[in-house]
Order: sequence, then C-alpha cells, then structure tokens
Amino acid sequence: MIFTVAIDGPAAAGKGTISKAVAARFGLRHLDTGLLYRAVGARVLAGDDPVTAARNLDPDELDGAALRTQAIADAASRVAVLPEVRAALTDFQRAFARLDGGAVLDGRDICSVICPDADVLLFVTASPEVRAERRYLELAAKGSDVTREGVLADVLARDDRDMNRAEAPLVAAPGATVIDTSELDIGAAVEAASAVVALRLAAR
Ligand code: DC
Repeated sequence: MIFTVAIDGPAAAGKGTISKAVAARFGLRHLDTGLLYRAVGARVLAGDDPVTAARNLDPDELDGAALRTQAIADAASRVAVLPEVRAALTDFQRAFARLDGGAVLDGRDICSVICPDADVLLFVTASPEVRAERRYLELAAKGSDVTREGVLADVLARDDRDMNRAEAPLVAAPGATVIDTSELDIGAAVEAASAVVALRLAAR
C-alpha cells in the first residue's frame, strides 16, 4: 500500500514542522521539497547556471542547516520560476512519493502538480504578519541581523513571486483541506493535520 500526504503553503506557515510531525506519527518518510530549490539557489549564488545545477543535483547531499538562510531562500524563489529547473526536479519528487509505502512531501506545488492524486492534500497557511513574526523570531534567535520590517518585506516579496509565477504557482489546490495556523500553536496545528490524515487512513 502506498500512502502519500501532499502539503503546500507559503513560507513560514508551519508546513515544515507539521510535515515532520505527521511523517513521524504515521511512520512515513518526509521530503522538504524547498530544499531542492534552495540547493539550486545556493549553486546559482556560487556562480552556476540554474538549469545545469538542477539537472546535476544530488538529493542525498542536501544540507538543510546550511541552506536555511534568507539569501538562499530568495535565490530559491528566483530559480523556482524557471520551467526547466522545475522539470529537472519533478521525477525525483514523484519517485520519492512512491517508494517504501509512501511519504509526506511539502512545498508549493505538491498538491497541484507533483502529487495531485495524493491520499491527503493539505494547504497550510497563515497571515503574512504572523508568518513574518515567526520567521523574525527564528532568525533573531540564530543571531541574524534582521528587523521586523525587513523580514515582512522579504515574506511579501517571496509570496508575490511564488504565487504569481506562470509555472506551477502556489495555490490552494482544488480538494485540499486548508489549515490556517494564524491562531494555532504548533501542537494544535499538528493535531489538525493529523486528524485529516487519520480520517483518510481509516477510510482505506
Ligand atoms: O519552502 P522553502 O521556503 O524552503 O522554499 C524555498 C523556495 O523554493 C520558495 O520560495 C519557492 C520554491 N519552491 C517551489 O517553487 N516549489 C516547491 N515545491 C518548494 C519550494
């Protein structure tokens, strides 16, 4: 049996934490697809061509910790508008979803493009102000030199690019269950997502 959970949403809505927790709870593997785009973005910042970088990416060598900077997030969002980059990353994501009984994948186009037939489709969102405040606290805790205004401007710019690009824009896919985490703490958000997954599993 293959069981796939597809989770989309804008930056800092909580989808990463929810995805990890849901994967652990239901014994599924997890792929943070943003890391693929971040790895390509990092290569471009180092001077490489984006399409070549995407085609030569080794997903086993993704270093999540090193890739979580504002500059790389911004570069990722820029390379993600390129259809050839997206195409080069598609097969790996679809294959990951089908291995070993299924998986949780999170990103921007998982429900709409990569796994539209997933067993569970979730769209995790929150207001830009709430997302910017979370990201600000996260970055400030790491000692980054950031301001609230600067982080909100970054969040809005990335939303605009991710939602308005021609290829695979971020949307709540038809049939996706929307979880707005603006007023939820992380525990409540994980419970909301897990409830949807548990219901679907029980129906199989
Ligand atoms: O989820 P993240 O912040 O790590 O993603 C970084 C960027 O990568 C995001 O701004 C847009 C792009 N991305 C994408 O276009 N499609 C995905 N499935 C995942 C990420």
